[in-house]
Amino acid sequence: MSEIGTLADFPHNGSYSTTVEGRSLLVVRQGETFFVYENSCPHTRETLDPMGGSVLSDDGLLLHCQRHAAQFHPQTGECIGGPCLGEFLTALPVVVSRDVLYLD
Ligand code: FES
Repeated sequence: MSEIGTLADFPHNGSYSTTVEGRSLLVVRQGETFFVYENSCPHTRETLDPMGGSVLSDDGLLLHCQRHAAQFHPQTGECIGGPCLGEFLTALPVVVSRDVLYLD
């Protein structure tokens, strides 16, 4: 397992870019639940967040790619609007142990 970070590194209800062992990741936290994706938009394979900051909407219902406005379901990674409609972010399995988030 590779450590992504402590839970305190990822405050509630937001998305966070990080790099683990050379992989660019997008960590999404909703309450106590985490979803981790490769930070690679299916549209161009570039990161979703070139401008920085969270790409999770304030209501927590959508992830918005900052490049061309694709919208993704935060819990499945499915593109539900925009140029990559029907494609998916690549989800990565994670585990939480003793307040640390790991790639499984
Ligand atoms: S790169 Fe994400 S919508 Fe184009």
